Amino acid sequence: MTPEPANGSDPGVPRHLAVIMDGNGRWAERRRRPRMIGHRAGARAVNTCIDFCLERGIEALTLFAFSSENWGRPEEEVGALMKLFMNALEREVEEMHRRGVRVRFIGERERFSDAIAQRMAHAESVTARNTRLHLNIAASYGGRWDIAEAARSLARDVAAGRLSPDAIDEHAVHARTCLADLPPPDLFIRTGGDLRISNFLLWQLAYTELWFTEALWPELDAATLQSALDDYARRQRRFGLTGAQVAVPRTETSE
Ligand code: IPE
Ligand code: IPE
Ligand code: MG
Repeated sequence: MTPEPANGSDPGVPRHLAVIMDGNGRWAERRRRPRMIGHRAGARAVNTCIDFCLERGIEALTLFAFSSENWGRPEEEVGALMKLFMNALEREVEEMHRRGVRVRFIGERERFSDAIAQRMAHAESVTARNTRLHLNIAASYGGRWDIAEAARSLARDVAAGRLSPDAIDEHAVHARTCLADLPPPDLFIRTGGDLRISNFLLWQLAYTELWFTEALWPELDAATLQSALDDYARRQRRFGLTGAQVAVPRTETSE
């Protein structure tokens, strides 16, 4: 399967941005405050990022909010994060809707309390018809979980006689992974200075441009996001081809 290059009106602007929002805990620790204060400040930075995407005409934003592995953090931190999550769901949904944002959650929803799962479903149904920005929140999400779910769904269809094993190819797997209806992320940003993927969108990031910053998530501002976009616009995405094959013909660039 060949990933399609971004083909929107401006190829220098990503259609889909994927972000690992990391560094909340360190931001708080540097201020000698409890980690939870960092998570609260991080929730405000989410709005900065959404505003930026709306202004730049980015079509989809996928935010890593809570990983499968984050369930293993101390009970106190997980509990406080769940409360923060619940409050944000109560507070922000109407505003998202007003701004034309479609909200979706990806991840293992069964692990959340019924109250949170209901709020997620509510946020999704209220905003379901919006098209200005697709906002995907990865919560209780792991890239390995996503791929395993796709495999399980294919196996079920094979067992039921609805699918031949020979029909399982990259397209078939892709169709059953999260966000299959959106273009894959063009640009990945991780704050907090660590150079790793941490089990984020493993399948979907195959040809995504990666960008890392030392800035901690609560410090995020539009200038940092703009530097990521500027870098992205200077890169040549080759998708396995040669530079000459993907070079934009001169006639299209002159003027
Ligand atoms: C990211 O910030 C938010 C979540 C994982 C929930 P961290 O809490 O990982 O912050 P650091 O990496 O410890 O600074
Ligand atoms: C990745 O950050 C997950 C989220 C931001 C939600 P982590 O802080 O959990 O990642 P590691 O542990 O540094 O790899
Ligand atoms: Mg971290």
